[in-house]
This record gives sequence, C-alpha cells and structure tokens, in this order.
Amino acid sequence: MNAPMNPNKALWEKGDFTRIAESMRESGEALIQRLGISNGLKVLDLGCGDGTTAIPAAKLGAEVLGVDIASNLVAAGNRRAKELGLANCRFQEGDAANLHQVPERAFDLVVSIFGAMFAPKPFEVAKETVRVTGPGGRIIMGNWIPNDPTLVAQILKISSAYTPPPPEGFVSPMTWGIESNVIERFAGAGVPAEKISFARDTFTFNFPSPPAALVDAFRKYYGPTMNAFEAAEKNGRAGDLQRAGRTVQPPKPEHAQDATSIPATFLRVTIAL
Ligand SMILES: C[S@@+](CC[C@H](N)C(=O)[O-])C[C@H]1O[C@@H](n2cnc3c(N)ncnc32)[C@H](O)[C@@H]1O
Repeated sequence: MNAPMNPNKALWEKGDFTRIAESMRESGEALIQRLGISNGLKVLDLGCGDGTTAIPAAKLGAEVLGVDIASNLVAAGNRRAKELGLANCRFQEGDAANLHQVPERAFDLVVSIFGAMFAPKPFEVAKETVRVTGPGGRIIMGNWIPNDPTLVAQILKISSAYTPPPPEGFVSPMTWGIESNVIERFAGAGVPAEKISFARDTFTFNFPSPPAALVDAFRKYYGPTMNAFEAAEKNGRAGDLQRAGRTVQPPKPEHAQDATSIPATFLRVTIAL
C-alpha cells in the first residue's frame, strides 16, 4: 500500500526551488560569514534546500548536515557538495518537526533560514532544534515577517489569498516572524526568553534578468505560488493573481541592464543555549 501523501513534502517537491535559490547565494554566503563559523564546528542546516547556507558553512570548514523534507532538494544539495569537493557537507531527507534520525546534543550550531518555519507543528520544531543542539550551542532562524511590505512576505500573502483555506488547526508559517510566538514556542522547549534575541535583517534576491522574470520564476518553481496559480486557474482568477503579483515588485527595483536585485526583510532569531 502507498504511504499517505505528506502535503508539506508534496508542496516543496512540486516545484524546483533550486531555480529561486540561485538568486539567494550572495546573501546566504554573507549571512553565514557573520556567524563565526570555525573549522570543525558541527552545523545542522534545517530546511536547507540545495545548500544556500549549508555549502558556505562547509566552505568555512564546518562539519555540515543539511536536512530537508524535499527529496529533489536533498539530491541537488548532495550534487552541489560533490561538485565542489566538500566531503564535510552532506544532505539527507528529514522533517524539522521530527528529527528522529538525529541524536540529541549533536550540533554546535543549528541554522534554519526560511526552512523550519515551513514545517507544520511549530512547537515540535522548537523542541527538536533544542534537543539536537549541544550545551553552549546556538540556534539561528531566519523567518519571513507577516505583512512586511518587501518581496517574499508579499508573495506569500498574495499566494495564500488565492489558495483554498488550509485544514483546521493549520498554523501559518508566517507566525514564525512574530517575536511573541517565537518566545512562546521556545518556552515550550524549556528555553527562557532571556536566551533569545531578535534582529531585522535583509536578504537580497539577485536575478540575472529583468524584474518580471523573478515573479515568473516564483510562478513556475515556488510551491506556494504554484498552488495559488493552480487554484486561481480553476476559479478563473489567474489573471487577477498575475496582476497582484506585478504589484509586488518595488516601484524601483535596482536593476542594471538585465539584472535585478530585490531586498527582502526578515526576522533573525538567535538562541544561545
Ligand atoms: C524557502 S525554502 C529555503 C531553503 C534554504 N534554506 C535556502 O535558504 O535556500 C524552504 C525549504 O524548507 C524545506 N522544508 C519545508 N518544510 C520542511 C520540514 N517540515 N522539514 C524540513 N524541511 C522543510 C523545503 O523543502 C525547502 O527546501
């Protein structure tokens, strides 16, 4: 008998997130450069995609495990690590809300940049990240902020407005961008608020094409937007969604010739255990 479909996994395997991730490499690398990663540091990257942050961490000498729910992205990450000759970086399939294959206290640093925020069961995510982090270790999350006017928060907001209502009990990933929710979730994992700090940070999407191509790439390759377009097409609202998508671009995206650079604000959460 076939195993029942996991909608969270299906959502991310549906598209090809590597096509978006290509525009995120510079910011991923810059963020990792700021984390004080030294040789041999044990790093877990949760919801790692194809390694936008895992690969730069390995280049700095860390021992990196990337875990992601999407098998296509795990394969892409392993391919990239192999091509770069990074024997200290491997990727495997797993769920940020249930890391049963990962031993406790195994990592010095757990990073999750726009990754674990997409796992259902946020309280389980907090418990699991704390369980696998060693004493004196750190957890760093990058989370999109609900209603933020910049790129991805707006794309996710518009997408959800055109997607059928989620099942009862569904918790929006965007709630990870609200500080009080983060504090409550980690309190449930035994972490006091004093150990958690927050900062606004910026991730810049660099695309080697005009701004409209970026919105098109989200339509073609980004699971949440693909689902929104499918639902909108069924209801004859695809044109409305396409027009709504165009409003997402900042009035004056920085672009020279055919390249586009769009900054997006996120909440950086640091937990020092
Ligand atoms: C927006 S992408 C970000 C990927 C990567 N961190 C980056 O910055 O390029 C979200 C990632 O989270 C992964 N993901 C979603 N739900 C997950 C879960 N429950 N457990 C592990 N990974 C998950 C997706 O497969 C996808 O790779």
